Amino acid sequence: MSASLTTPRFGRRTEGASIPDPAAAQAGSAAAPPPPSHGSPPDDAIAALRKLCLARLDPAVVSNMPVEQLTSDVERLISELASQNRAQLNAREQRALANEVVNDIVGLGPLEPLLEDDAVSDIMVNGPNRVFVERRGKTEMSDVRFRDTSHLSGICQRIAAAIGRRVDESSPMVDARLRDGSRVNIVFPPLALDGPYVSIRKFSKKTIDLARLVEFGALTPPVARVLQVAGRARLNIIISGGTGSGKTTLLNALSRFIDVGERVVTVEDAAELQLQQPHVVRLETRPPSLEGKGEITQRDLVRNALRMRPDRIIIGEVRGGEAFDMLQAMNTGHDGSMSTIHANTTRDALTRIENMVQMGNMGLPSKAIRTQIVGAIDMIVQVERQRDGRRRVTQVTEVCGMEADVVALNDVFLLEVQGQREDGTLFGRYRVNAVPPTFIRRLAYFGLDTVWADAVHEAMA
Ligand SMILES: Nc1ncnc2c1ncn2[C@@H]1O[C@H](COP(=O)(O)OP(=O)(O)OP(=O)(O)O)[C@@H](O)[C@H]1O
Ligand SMILES: [Mg+2]
Repeated sequence: MSASLTTPRFGRRTEGASIPDPAAAQAGSAAAPPPPSHGSPPDDAIAALRKLCLARLDPAVVSNMPVEQLTSDVERLISELASQNRAQLNAREQRALANEVVNDIVGLGPLEPLLEDDAVSDIMVNGPNRVFVERRGKTEMSDVRFRDTSHLSGICQRIAAAIGRRVDESSPMVDARLRDGSRVNIVFPPLALDGPYVSIRKFSKKTIDLARLVEFGALTPPVARVLQVAGRARLNIIISGGTGSGKTTLLNALSRFIDVGERVVTVEDAAELQLQQPHVVRLETRPPSLEGKGEITQRDLVRNALRMRPDRIIIGEVRGGEAFDMLQAMNTGHDGSMSTIHANTTRDALTRIENMVQMGNMGLPSKAIRTQIVGAIDMIVQVERQRDGRRRVTQVTEVCGMEADVVALNDVFLLEVQGQREDGTLFGRYRVNAVPPTFIRRLAYFGLDTVWADAVHEAMA
């Protein structure tokens, strides 16, 4: 028995909540329900046992205990309390209650099993009774429940406290990160109409490289080879797609082709990139304090990054005024820079970048912005979460130049869906445009022009 639960500081409180005794209840009232002789113990018995157990734990001590030790100590305490109070819980139910108590104390309560389940990529909590998860691209309702709103609120507070914040009516939206790097957004009432909302994008423990994306059917080997060439030849690349379409994952995969000797500066709102190179400098924005002070935006960081002698700059997701500085960086010798953007097609991505630049720099004529864009960006890759739940590369577009006032684009690959198999998955093929790209000289400089041409021809076969 470990010292912690037997130390006097836990006390031996016997007053307070005690387990309702079904036998006594029956004796007192003929109308009372009979005691459950088998099946699940009544919820109020479990609740009372939980309360008794929590009353015996000293938060200051348990929060510093290793989880395994805490779990076994709590299991022992619960079995002791159960027999003292004649609660009819079998060993499995006692273990489940112990796990629940431990998860509430040191973890994220009922969300813990979902966080441990590698098949779950997103967790979406819409109030205490509705928890949805995404598994293999499909969203489904899970059977996880919180006891009530205050149980869920308490867990939200714990997430926020880890980054020195609180969530309440006066500060009802918080972005945070879990210890393992998972991204969390919390919205509280009154903005959240049905109780606290929590959205978690789980940090993928396994790094997904291009080979794995090919295995997943996200793209074909020749398309993967073209992307690899683009990364190696230091093209400036934008990855475009909808929410959760796999943009960050593809950016991570492409970053693997960056030479180990290069100095890479990354700029992100919430650090998600997993660059493998030794010389990576990671920067993360800072939200304003509760008094509204001290905010550091992506734009501030990109500007600062330019003074850090980077070989490449990688912006996790371009979403505002930093678009202008990103184009500047790409146009001034930091080739091989990459970013992602929220857009529906590769052409839409350019329009969005143009709008972002315009918003941050009122008065710049469209044509001047487009000229900047054409000079800066070489390639845009579109990813999409398709209706069968699979994420795929749907478009690889080369930025060719200006034709009159319009940016000329060429789709090197365009995925055409041809039908649906019996198991529901979609199938299709890439339409290929084998015209040599405008950056062919650059590919030749890196000795990669024939690899590109061969891959494009293989995709046509
Ligand atoms: N091709 C793929 N096949 C299967 N799972 C994928 C694929 N690409 C990404 N995923 C998974 O999908 C989830 C979302 O991916 P990711 O974070 O890259 O999307 P995103 O577009 O950057 O999202 P957001 O818009 O929220 O930034 C992750 O859990 C990731 O592991
Ligand atoms: Mg992302």
